[in-house]
Amino acid sequence: MNVKTRLGALELANPVVLTSGTAGYGKEISPYLDINRVGAITIKGLSLFPCSGNPPPRIYESASGVLNSIGLENKGVERFIQEDIPFLETFSTRVITNIWGTDEQSYLDVARVLTLVERVDGIEVNVSCPNVEKGGASFSCDLASLGSLIGKLRDVISKTFIVKLGPMKENIGDVMVLLEHLDVDAVSITNTFPALAVDVSTQQVYFSRKTAGLSGPAIKPLALRMVYEATQASDIPCIGMGGIASGTDALEFLLVGARAVGVGTATLSNPVASMEILEGIHSWLSERGIESVEDIIGKAR
Ligand SMILES: Cc1cc2nc3c(=O)[nH]c(=O)nc-3n(C[C@H](O)[C@H](O)[C@H](O)COP(=O)(O)O)c2cc1C
Repeated sequence: MNVKTRLGALELANPVVLTSGTAGYGKEISPYLDINRVGAITIKGLSLFPCSGNPPPRIYESASGVLNSIGLENKGVERFIQEDIPFLETFSTRVITNIWGTDEQSYLDVARVLTLVERVDGIEVNVSCPNVEKGGASFSCDLASLGSLIGKLRDVISKTFIVKLGPMKENIGDVMVLLEHLDVDAVSITNTFPALAVDVSTQQVYFSRKTAGLSGPAIKPLALRMVYEATQASDIPCIGMGGIASGTDALEFLLVGARAVGVGTATLSNPVASMEILEGIHSWLSERGIESVEDIIGKAR
């Protein structure tokens, strides 16, 4: 059976991708999971300089989901290259780095550094983080600022260029048409949804920044709708994500048009969730005598 898939020029051995922020820099997940077995690992969001993130608390568990307010804490791109690239070089899996900035210049600066790193296969640009003051989701607020940023990044990124979208005011079909016009190689859909938690013991809102990003099974139907609409509007390959915790969940995303699937929150409680999901895809295909995962992509449309 053939489970290979493609994101533009980038071939993945299978469609299961670890999503950004839920597998660390690779070392953190590796004692629990053979990262050579996933289609790709996405590194947690990197900025040019180290970032200490938001003050605690940063995680809240809700029914069927998790709220996080990490605030894109990371060690900065130079330390990542020194400390983690040598480790990642001992694996053959695809490596996607996720980047963010507070303005166009800082996105461009980090992209310029990573595009020169041989071990990096793809650069995923986060324009959809709900947990930071500057940058993040503000870049997908309107088509003009998104188009300006992505156009400039396209000129500097020579790796597979992936744009990570989240819930936004703009029509997702219009966004996809714009990204296609700008020659983006792939999209990741979706980031987390702005949400709120309240602590009745203190009678206060739980997080210091008030809202936080909701992920996990609670957002799966919302994410499926976004992937459906995005892949209807454009042929840009899509990594579908949002609440995937089983092979069946993953198949739903493939059937609506995703070419790969991201596993995030499920990994936090079950580090081998991605392997169980891959096995679920395999057995579903083989039970039906379907020879290639390609044969089911978009079938539900
Ligand atoms: C703890 C945590 C940290 C995250 N950090 C990032 C990040 O650094 N960059 C990013 O683009 N998305 C980040 N995300 C979003 C996930 O990559 C993913 O898009 C989202 O959680 C939906 O998938 P899921 O429901 O499988 O978790 C984070 C999510 C969680 C739960």
